[in-house]
Amino acid sequence: MTTVTASEAAYVVAALLFILSLAGLSQHRTSRSGVVWGIAGMVVALAATVGLASKDITATGLVLIAVATVIGAGIGLWRARVVEMTGMPELIAIMHSLVGLAAAFVGWNGYLDVDAELSGSLLGIHHAEVFIGVFIGAVTFTGSVVAYLKLSARIDSRPLTLPGKHVLNIGALVAFVGLTIAFVARPNLGLLIAVTVIALALGAHLVASIGGGDMPVVVSMLNSYSGWAAAASGFLLANNLLIVTGALVGSSGAYLSYIMCKAMNRSFISVIAGGFGTPAAVADDGEHGEHREISAEETAELLRDASSVIITPGYGMAVAQAQYPVAELARKLRERGVEVRFGIHPVAGRLPGHMNVLLAEANVPYDIVLEMDEINDDFADTSVVLVIGANDTVNPAATDNPASPIAGMPVLHVWEAASVVVFKRSMAAGYAGVQNPLFFRENSQMLFGDAKQRVEDILRGLDALDTPVKEMAATTR
Ligand code: TAP
Repeated sequence: MTTVTASEAAYVVAALLFILSLAGLSQHRTSRSGVVWGIAGMVVALAATVGLASKDITATGLVLIAVATVIGAGIGLWRARVVEMTGMPELIAIMHSLVGLAAAFVGWNGYLDVDAELSGSLLGIHHAEVFIGVFIGAVTFTGSVVAYLKLSARIDSRPLTLPGKHVLNIGALVAFVGLTIAFVARPNLGLLIAVTVIALALGAHLVASIGGGDMPVVVSMLNSYSGWAAAASGFLLANNLLIVTGALVGSSGAYLSYIMCKAMNRSFISVIAGGFGTPAAVADDGEHGEHREISAEETAELLRDASSVIITPGYGMAVAQAQYPVAELARKLRERGVEVRFGIHPVAGRLPGHMNVLLAEANVPYDIVLEMDEINDDFADTSVVLVIGANDTVNPAATDNPASPIAGMPVLHVWEAASVVVFKRSMAAGYAGVQNPLFFRENSQMLFGDAKQRVEDILRGLDALDTPVKEMAATTR
């Protein structure tokens, strides 16, 4: 009894630590402490759970728990240490798949091992929990696996458009409701197998139907699903902490998905229903004309003569790890009296806040890093825009071409500046797989190559431009 009371008290402490963690993670300045609160909460939660379980399990069981914890923590530490920042979304997706799988297993276990004390309506509630837990868990599992495959480019990121796809999704939901009623009335293995198969297929289909550009929303949506799956397991296991934590993850993930949908001008319902209601967009592979190239030295001259510069970074800056020379370039230009600012698109890169984290890491002052809405009206008065490894987030087709797969997504209006220099390695499309008409505009020039190397070339170019001035000054003295 004492153990139960101590464990329940520890659960309350862990839940509070998780809430503190979420609060900390909501701001850059406090995000590190948010992570520390989260780790502390998880340590307390694990210790309390083992303490709670210890009265019912044998010594062998405890040893098995310890071994599983060491193996799990080892894999977690190893993956977190080796993952590249650009690989975070797929790591998160695959972790969500494990939460979904665990919830489905807990559901199955709840069916196979029913508490003998349950009867009447409580037994009915138990069976409903089993069915709902298995359904949410299995949807989360396959949905997350498909998201992982898309994000890691192991499968095509274009949306799958099966004939009658919405009928298939709605049919699966209707079948789930019908099967749940049947299962609560008369639980049997056949119905549980049927719902598992339907949920596995639905999860895979929902995420496969979503196009590359909408993947950020999918990742946060799966985050939310994994939370609800954990909460469903919490009800089955009568574990309050799992219910609280699941609800925290579920609701914060749903809210993040909503914020991202707003930022991308997407309908929340449309995205969670696997692209429901979005017009069948056609990829624009048409001719756009000729593009023009510029060298690093010419870019250095352009920057020397500029009065204002906006840098819009994207995924390519992260791949090239170009944030350090980019920060140095900003510093040098500011020293010369050029007004330099950064324009950050809400889904630039591969995870929310990706660019902000990289720029903060390179010590770019916060006050020159502006969100898209804060800077979008200023491009028209800007001498030079440097698009560093960004593509979809600066694509004018989103505003001009209603047939584009990214139509309606707000983008940075870089093309309104006097000159635009685009840093990338080729004319390849961005993540959403659509060509970018920006590259062919009169005021745009391509600077091909790895972004880090090209920015370093520009820094050298600026130094070279300075040298004659300094030498002349020395000779005159
Ligand atoms: P993207 O559209 O992904 O384009 C990045 C560009 O960087 C590519 O066109 C690539 O062109 C270039 N690049 C890659 N490596 C480079 C290197 N070493 N040096 C120079 N350039 C390099 O980037 P974006 O504008 O940031 O847009 C993000 C996209 O990802 C959006 O579609 C968004 O919806 C999606 N997404 C975002 C998130 C979140 S939450 N941010 C999550 C998942 C997906 P080359 O190959 O020609 O070099």
